[in-house]
Amino acid sequence: MNIQFGVDYYPEHWPVQRWETDAKLMQAMGVQVVRMAEFSWFKMEPEEGKFNFAWLDQAIELLASYGIKSVLGTPTAAAPAWIIERNPEIQPTDPQGRRRHFGGRHHNCQSNEVYRAHVKRFVNAFAEHFAPNPNVIGWQVGNELGNSHNELCMCESCEKRFREWLEKKYGTIEELNRRWGTDFWSQGYQNFAQIQAPKLTVTGVNPSQMLDWKRFHSDLIVEYHQFQSKILRHYAPDKWITQNMMGFAETVDYFELGKDLEFSSHDQYPSMNMVREKPQYLGSEGAGQLDIIRGTKEQTFWIMEQQTTLNGWYEVSRRPRPGQIHLWAMQSVAHGADTIVFFRWRSCAFGTEQYWEGVIPHSGIPGRVYDEIKGFMHKNGTLMQEIKGLMPQSEAAIVFSYDQEYAIDIQPHHPDMKYVDHLMTYYRALYRQNIPVDLISDQSDFSRYKLLVAPLQYMMDPVLEEKYRTYVKNGGTLVLTMRTGVKDRDNICDSERPLPGGLADVVGLKVYDYDCLRQLQVKVAWDGKEYICDKWCDVITPDTAEAVACYASEYYKGTPAITVNVYGDGKAYYVGTEMTPDLADRFITEVGAELSLGETPDGVEITRRMGADKAYYFVLNHNGKEQMVNIPEGWQSYYEGQTMPMPAYGVYVYTEKVGK
Ligand code: GLA
Ligand code: ZN
Repeated sequence: MNIQFGVDYYPEHWPVQRWETDAKLMQAMGVQVVRMAEFSWFKMEPEEGKFNFAWLDQAIELLASYGIKSVLGTPTAAAPAWIIERNPEIQPTDPQGRRRHFGGRHHNCQSNEVYRAHVKRFVNAFAEHFAPNPNVIGWQVGNELGNSHNELCMCESCEKRFREWLEKKYGTIEELNRRWGTDFWSQGYQNFAQIQAPKLTVTGVNPSQMLDWKRFHSDLIVEYHQFQSKILRHYAPDKWITQNMMGFAETVDYFELGKDLEFSSHDQYPSMNMVREKPQYLGSEGAGQLDIIRGTKEQTFWIMEQQTTLNGWYEVSRRPRPGQIHLWAMQSVAHGADTIVFFRWRSCAFGTEQYWEGVIPHSGIPGRVYDEIKGFMHKNGTLMQEIKGLMPQSEAAIVFSYDQEYAIDIQPHHPDMKYVDHLMTYYRALYRQNIPVDLISDQSDFSRYKLLVAPLQYMMDPVLEEKYRTYVKNGGTLVLTMRTGVKDRDNICDSERPLPGGLADVVGLKVYDYDCLRQLQVKVAWDGKEYICDKWCDVITPDTAEAVACYASEYYKGTPAITVNVYGDGKAYYVGTEMTPDLADRFITEVGAELSLGETPDGVEITRRMGADKAYYFVLNHNGKEQMVNIPEGWQSYYEGQTMPMPAYGVYVYTEKVGK
């Protein structure tokens, strides 16, 4: 399968007479694949058991005659009104026990057996019908699984499944009572039947119950995916299955979901990420989203929806500037996308997403966006074939954990503390210094990396503890942070020993005291320079660790904020606070400078995909103005005309001989 470019297409939104014009324009642009059908259940089953696949057959056929293959989504992200009318109980329930209603999308409970029966009937017919079609190359189950279901569903069916999940995990109610700490506030249970979803209470939640709920919910979505993927694989063992993931979205553990996919996909909307970016870190949010997706299976991936132009539902983003669409698409490629599917083909004339605009505007007349994407496809096809499957071979990694995220979500300590934001303080500093970084699961092999950053290892267990210990002992450089080893995996505080628990000897220190920075800024002094730190301060008592930087205010003034400890053949840093950008930049210079691919002005990133004998470097200017970038000797221009200064939103590609 040799496919680099595509668009998301909704032929059902347009008159059949227009389809051929679309197909011609797509072909001229360079489109090789479309994704279709993920929201068209009613169109395909207007009445129970009366299937109408003819229109989609026709679209697939027509597109194929222009050399365009199809990926089909099962349309289960939007059940038709006739199903809801008959079975209103499948609508999801919020923590207050209120139903959410028809009129948007995702209006279904994922555990409900009645809904599952509808899905089963439909997906069987759908898979059976399209499986033999050679122009259908792969599937997507539903759409963005987990989207809109953040705190849903707490219906009776989900509660029942939750109880079963708990019974399987704990075996006996006594064990659950012990591990949930139900002696607190008289929360003990006599049997599993008494357990509810963590619905709205009068006050407070049990953190252990809540953590299990989030895990259960993630498992349910993974199982829901398997429920459909089994049917698809039964009819079409030769076709692949992917899922359009959403970067740092946390509802589903993507490492787990990834196990049921041939490859991961992602929906990349940089203008949504950009609103969070500081000028010196332009491009970093998008980069982080891409790197986590590459990490889900530790392999290259597809972009199933790449932003084309202005987007929004009610309010809209800025229109991407000339060159910016190309830049954003190349950023996806630079971080590991082998295929870019642009969302959507044509701006929709009706519905919620009228202003989530497409390659072709409402009028149907191709303009700047079409030309720019066409230019992107025509220019980069050969390059993308060459780099297909190539990974960056990062020497630095950040450990990403849904479990830790869930626990921090439940108790963020500081009102502004967020797991991903904290992790991104490290990511952005690495990004700014052009250090390629993998975002990996804590189940992953650490030994490949020279530098391993493991933020907020809040819940610790003996196995993970041993992994970190071995990694450092064998020569790795590990960064651990504030709130390491606070709890066990049941979300119960370690009451056997001081913080940071079992890894105290690896970092060579203890934490007997800490402070939450509410309406408070604390200074950190490092080599005579002062920085600000944020949200939290561990008060560190070193054993064998040495101070790298010290607090310069508050009652813990003069005590270490950041330390380093030599352990075995490696060393372990401990960062007792959340670093602000300047401090994080200084820190990454200290721990990772030699891993940098080169220095660039702010907002210009360099990233890499590594072949057996050739490295490919991508230099991306996220700034709206020209930039001078020093290109290392030995790098060859991949394209002609890559002269300095780089244009605003410019993308340059270089290669370098490596190995042998
Ligand atoms: C998501 C979905 C699409 C569409 C876009 C724009 O990425 O997968 O169906 O809704 O957002 O809102
Ligand atoms: Zn439910």
